[in-house]
Amino acid sequence: MAIQHDGPSRTKNKKLLKWVDEMAALCRPARIYWCNGSQEEYDRLCNELIAGGTFIKLNPARRPNSYLARSAPSDVARVEDRTFICSKNKDEAGPTNNWMDPAEMRGILGKLFDGCMKGRTMYVVPFSMGPIGSPISHIGVELSDSPYVAVSQRIMTRMGQDALDALGADGDFVPCVHSVGAPLEPGQQDVPWPCNEIKYITHFPETHEIWSYGSGYGGNALLGKKCFALRIASVMGREQGWLAEHMLILGVESPHGEKTYVAAAFPSACGKTNFAMLIPPVEGFKGWKVTTIGDDIAWIKPHADGKFYAINPEAGYFGVAPGTSIHSNPNAILTLRENCIFTNCALTDDGDVWWEGMTDQPPAHAIDWKGKDWTPASETPAAHPNARFTAPAGQCPSIDPNWENPAGVPISAFVFGGRVSKNFPLVFQSYSWEHGVYLAATMGSEATAAAVGQAAMRRDPMAMLPFCGYNMADYWAHWLKIGRSRVAAPPLIFRVNWFRKDENGKFIWPGFGENMRALMWIVDRCRGRAAAVESPIGWLPPASALNWEGLNFPMEKYYAIMNIDREKAKVEAEEQKEFFDKFGDRMPRELLLERELLLSRLNRSPETWELNKAA
Ligand code: OXD
Ligand code: MN
Repeated sequence: MAIQHDGPSRTKNKKLLKWVDEMAALCRPARIYWCNGSQEEYDRLCNELIAGGTFIKLNPARRPNSYLARSAPSDVARVEDRTFICSKNKDEAGPTNNWMDPAEMRGILGKLFDGCMKGRTMYVVPFSMGPIGSPISHIGVELSDSPYVAVSQRIMTRMGQDALDALGADGDFVPCVHSVGAPLEPGQQDVPWPCNEIKYITHFPETHEIWSYGSGYGGNALLGKKCFALRIASVMGREQGWLAEHMLILGVESPHGEKTYVAAAFPSACGKTNFAMLIPPVEGFKGWKVTTIGDDIAWIKPHADGKFYAINPEAGYFGVAPGTSIHSNPNAILTLRENCIFTNCALTDDGDVWWEGMTDQPPAHAIDWKGKDWTPASETPAAHPNARFTAPAGQCPSIDPNWENPAGVPISAFVFGGRVSKNFPLVFQSYSWEHGVYLAATMGSEATAAAVGQAAMRRDPMAMLPFCGYNMADYWAHWLKIGRSRVAAPPLIFRVNWFRKDENGKFIWPGFGENMRALMWIVDRCRGRAAAVESPIGWLPPASALNWEGLNFPMEKYYAIMNIDREKAKVEAEEQKEFFDKFGDRMPRELLLERELLLSRLNRSPETWELNKAA
């Protein structure tokens, strides 16, 4: 017998109502609940999560209206090896994605989802990625048997009745089905963090569908984020002529109110959130401000006025907690003051959260992320290294006044940053759009192969390796095509690297707020007011083009972080060939040509570049 629910009184969207009934018939939940997104609903669900042992309410005097959840120890991160792109054709998914035939995957999912929500509530979670009503936004509906997902989605997206109203009777949405895969038999006691050993995070690019099974954690379960806003949206972007990118968006504001917006892609663990919330050094940048639009994802559309406009499709931050401190990221710490959900952080004796690196002095005692007693003498960390905060973006002190502007903000520059300890400059600019796409396609981070003590490059093109919903070579072709868009002139493209080390293995560049100096050169280049010198790899800033006021940084060190060893650069360019070869015939010719041009410049240019040239 079909389960009664109040869907018909909440929406006239026939496609949605039909799909909810079909999924209910498959998953067989005990009840169906349509989320409205209200505060009352959020509070009620959080109280239910407390009663069920999933949430601990934090001390309201220290962390008002906030909760701590502890996941199952087997469910602590995104599971890339269980993430699939199920396009009809394997080549459509490409060599960097796990692929499975859609019919075969539907067969597997059909069995797994059969009765998977027994004894549980199926939450219908309508959400808008991006400000409601923005021409850049898109709507999704997540069906989930996890109330943790429902409340998290209220922070991470515009969730509830407003999204349903925006969808209307005929609107289209991305269907996202999620189950923790832990049906309850009558009388069976639930656990605080239900999940399943078997996990599938699956995407059907042709039908824009997402099915996720077995995990309740982060990007595996909050399907608006990596699954929709990157994997499915990248496919939609290719179909419709826009970009869905793993990029933060920030604004640089001058003392006179001149505003320049930049979107930047960094692989995980490169300080992306810190950069999105950067506080410029007081000395040297008096009156300058960096404002935050987004910390993780950007949707970018070329506009008829000749510019590329971006929105942050998310409404909250789901950030890595360990390492976040008042020194590394004061704005993040202030964002977390209330209304947050913390997952896998430690619990202090006064009912607050703690994580490694949060304070100079660790607490004398805490309860670790597994619920066990912890002291600084313990051999395991108090917080899981991938412990997370879920925080409303509007609480960020540096939030940009335009962050919810439905028109988006005009982007002047794309910045790509990897983590390279040697032979890669602090900042440089590409010679052209094609050269910029090449620089982004070849970016990577060093993965130290401890056994041989050698640094191997883990390629992470555009920081999209685990997030592109189709063949990466086709994605590069799409980037090349967008840049040739006849309506809009594309942003300038830059690469940055904060992580260069000296012979003693110490970072040379101070990083954090001082990254403003590189960012300022980027802004000045966009505004046509900063000098650059030619080098084999791109336009470099002469020392005189950077603002050094207030930073004691000897020029020898500057030359050290800008230096490129020609022979090593050639080896690196050779390695890129191996990577490109993986993509066979689909590889865009422009990028192959850019690699050859680089090699020829490395063979030709003078040994030193005039970094000491006057601006
Ligand atoms: C993230 C990631 O969780 O990029 O944002 O890994
Ligand atoms: Mn990310």
